[in-house]
Amino acid sequence: MYINFWYPACLSEELTADKPLYVQMLGCAFVAFRDSAGQAHVLSNICVHRGASLAHGKVKGDAIECPYHGWQFQGSDGVCSKIPSLGKDGKIPARAKVDSYPVQEKYGLVFAFLGDLPEAERPPLMDIPEWGQDGWAITRMNNTWKANYLRSQENTLDPAHTEFVHPSMGYQGGREDYNVPDLKVIERDWGVGTMTTFVSPDLPSAAMKGVKGEGGMEAGAGHHGPAHTWTYLHFSPKAHAHQYSFKRPIDRFNFQSYFIQFRNFKTEAAVDAPMYERSLAVAEQDRVVVERLAPVLTPASSTEEVMVKADLVITKFRERLQEWEDKGWRIDVDKMDALKDKKMFSIPSPARRTTKGWALDPVPLLPAKGAALGERRAAE
Ligand code: FES
Ligand SMILES: [Fe+2]
Repeated sequence: MYINFWYPACLSEELTADKPLYVQMLGCAFVAFRDSAGQAHVLSNICVHRGASLAHGKVKGDAIECPYHGWQFQGSDGVCSKIPSLGKDGKIPARAKVDSYPVQEKYGLVFAFLGDLPEAERPPLMDIPEWGQDGWAITRMNNTWKANYLRSQENTLDPAHTEFVHPSMGYQGGREDYNVPDLKVIERDWGVGTMTTFVSPDLPSAAMKGVKGEGGMEAGAGHHGPAHTWTYLHFSPKAHAHQYSFKRPIDRFNFQSYFIQFRNFKTEAAVDAPMYERSLAVAEQDRVVVERLAPVLTPASSTEEVMVKADLVITKFRERLQEWEDKGWRIDVDKMDALKDKKMFSIPSPARRTTKGWALDPVPLLPAKGAALGERRAAE
């Protein structure tokens, strides 16, 4: 798992005015809450006094109050503003602060930037050009999978599984002339992808009747950062579905996916429910395969797999992951897990670049540029 990217903490609607929310991301615990102005905040969840869970405390104005001894931490910067046991004039120690993360609320989600990069250096959130545009209908789907999120990312980037896993888009091996054509890689700043032509059957569901054009359909997918993907399904030159998946790695064995689908055909509200059912069915077909992949984590070395040309985008994705590891952004999860009963860590927030004196150590990271290229430790 990687620091220094935006991750979706929760749905905007889940974060109500007065109730803090416990959120797990990248194997660490966080509290999300809204202040008196409705602004969302995401803080490290572990109270630096004696380790209570802030998410199980109360929102007090613009701060979160710990349920154990009532210390209050400000949403804006995580600094402790009240220690009741010290009395009115007590001096609050400088180390009484928790990490507070940059937040943006967009696409109906609350995103937190989990890392310490200054604003100008942060990878951007994945853009959704269709958001707020006329002519697109939206359906949303939120799923929790018992799988490593990178296994799922690679599934989305894999054009060769469609023929076998998704009966609505392929022939399940029933076509003699099936092959995946040479893939053209689309390179972007924070990800790679591809679009290709699929030969697919007529779409059987009532919602999709008449949508597909003659001949093949153009489709493809790409990733943005380690945990987010886009998928375009062009059923005909005019009928397009554009899908975006924002994943939140809960830990290395579970993730939460927030999926948003836009369509520019059959945009009437009555079609939303059948479109949702269709997306859910497709996701389920993926889930049953991905949750059974072995090992649960991508193997430590690519020599333990046999990759072919249809796996090109997956190979490119792994190269990007390696680049982020080389920057020193990859969490050393093995180390963190080995200590988990004795020591809590915190994802470093930007304030750590300018302020000293933090009670929790930052999460251990694999050394920048340290790992041999092409070698991927099973730390993910
Ligand atoms: S543990 Fe939070 S106030 Fe004591
Ligand atoms: Fe799939």
